[in-house]
Amino acid sequence: VRRSSSRVILGHLVAFLTSALLVRSVSLGGRPCLGKKTLPAQMISRNNFSVWSILKKCIGMELTKIAMPVVFNEPLSFLQRLSEYMEHTHLIHEACCLSDSIERMQVVAAFAVSAVASQWERTGKPFNPLLGETYELIREDEGYRLISEQVSHHPPVSAFHAESLKHDFVFHGSICPKLKFWGKSIEAEPKGTMTLELLKHKEAYTWTNPLCCVHNVIIGTLWIEQYGTVEILNHSTGDKCILNFKPCGMFGKELHKVEGHIQDKRKKKLRVIYGKWTECMYSVDPKVYETHKKSEKKTGGESKKTKQVMDTSPENSCEEEGSDDVPEIQETVTMVPGSALLWRISPRPPHSAQMYNFTNFAMTLNELEPGAERLLAPTDCRFRPDIRAMESGDIDTASTEKERLEEKQRAARKERSRGDEEWSTQWFQFGTNPHTEAEDWLYTGGYFDRSYSDCLNIY
Ligand SMILES: *[C@@H]1O[C@H](CO)[C@@H](O)[C@H](O)[C@H]1NC(C)=O
Ligand SMILES: *[C@@H]1O[C@H](CO)[C@@H](O)[C@H](O)[C@H]1NC(C)=O
Ligand SMILES: *[C@@H]1O[C@H](CO)[C@@H](O)[C@H](O)[C@H]1NC(C)=O
Repeated sequence: VRRSSSRVILGHLVAFLTSALLVRSVSLGGRPCLGKKTLPAQMISRNNFSVWSILKKCIGMELTKIAMPVVFNEPLSFLQRLSEYMEHTHLIHEACCLSDSIERMQVVAAFAVSAVASQWERTGKPFNPLLGETYELIREDEGYRLISEQVSHHPPVSAFHAESLKHDFVFHGSICPKLKFWGKSIEAEPKGTMTLELLKHKEAYTWTNPLCCVHNVIIGTLWIEQYGTVEILNHSTGDKCILNFKPCGMFGKELHKVEGHIQDKRKKKLRVIYGKWTECMYSVDPKVYETHKKSEKKTGGESKKTKQVMDTSPENSCEEEGSDDVPEIQETVTMVPGSALLWRISPRPPHSAQMYNFTNFAMTLNELEPGAERLLAPTDCRFRPDIRAMESGDIDTASTEKERLEEKQRAARKERSRGDEEWSTQWFQFGTNPHTEAEDWLYTGGYFDRSYSDCLNIY
């Protein structure tokens, strides 16, 4: 269905969508996960709601006043989505234990890919965090704890800081999601740098996450693609791992593929890294890889179609003609003989489809253990009434509560501007990332001392 004139109008909705529609990028959480791994209720079907029917009514209205219906959300705050980065923390522990620097780099590369794997088939929009909202996650079984805070409202910035309980790593970053609405799809760029420090090795790695595109937001089947180049830099030596998240291309042949290599500062290829972010990642010797590719071509293992796709697919294109149908070709990764498996995705639980396509990890993020209420900061998103209501399947309460919280936030901002009071963040400070020398939000410490008397009442 073509709607070129509507598309022009829709172009004006970008600003509104930026604040209202989905944000996908990173994920984090705290206490041993002995949880139930399920949600209190199944999700409400979105079939009776069309984004278009809502946008249609918005034409000519003041866009900032329009909120997307909660039914398009998932019952998690974006801060909780960020904590999902930590799902495969075992990879960081593994990297810490490796003495060979190339082996460390390839496991770090697998971690960077695994961190965005939870986005697979997750088309629900997380709730926008309120200014000052926090989320903590302590996982003693996995040996880490994490704290995140919404440090800015306009533009929205979420900062997180995770640290190993044994002091062997620190993983931190701040994300400012930038959204572009293309008429049929929404592209989200998770602006911000991830920094992983392996303390015992005195190493720091930094990278930025790939772009994410949700197709068919107006009509058709929603599906997700991630693409762009992710460069993981070892700041001690200048060695790099370059990973290319491929756009799906015209026949879907490249869908979800990730390919790249580790190189030293003279650009000599040391390892080839390949796989899919939805499935698994392998590492192999570059010579072995090249030889395999050549022999595959000779025996016709690569079809003409594939070549054509590779030649024509424009880089970083979210909205190319004909790319909006769900790609049908979904082959599994072919292992090149001699490769080492770096990471494999965990299967989703059987009830995932009725629960926002959550992973087991995501299912536990709202858990509030008995006694935890007294320990947590009052700003923790587990206390958000709108998210709670949605999780229990009460969309109407979720809607009214979300409106109430946003109104309360606006009133607080007005109040502050009247009394020339400045907003100040609780746990993070704007500063310079020592590794990239770029501006970043850095944890100032103290959250886990559990003295929260200065926290504002934002709910
Ligand atoms: C959706 O619409 C169908 C058909 O009109 C109706 O039977 C069903 O109850 C509706 N579901 C919800 C959740 O409103
Ligand atoms: C990273 O930096 C460290 C410290 O200088 C160095 O020993 C190591 O070779 C580097 N690792 C990689 C994979 O480049
Ligand atoms: C879950 O995944 C299925 C299969 O891809 C998809 O049709 C559905 O829209 C997804 N649901 C959500 C809430 O993203």
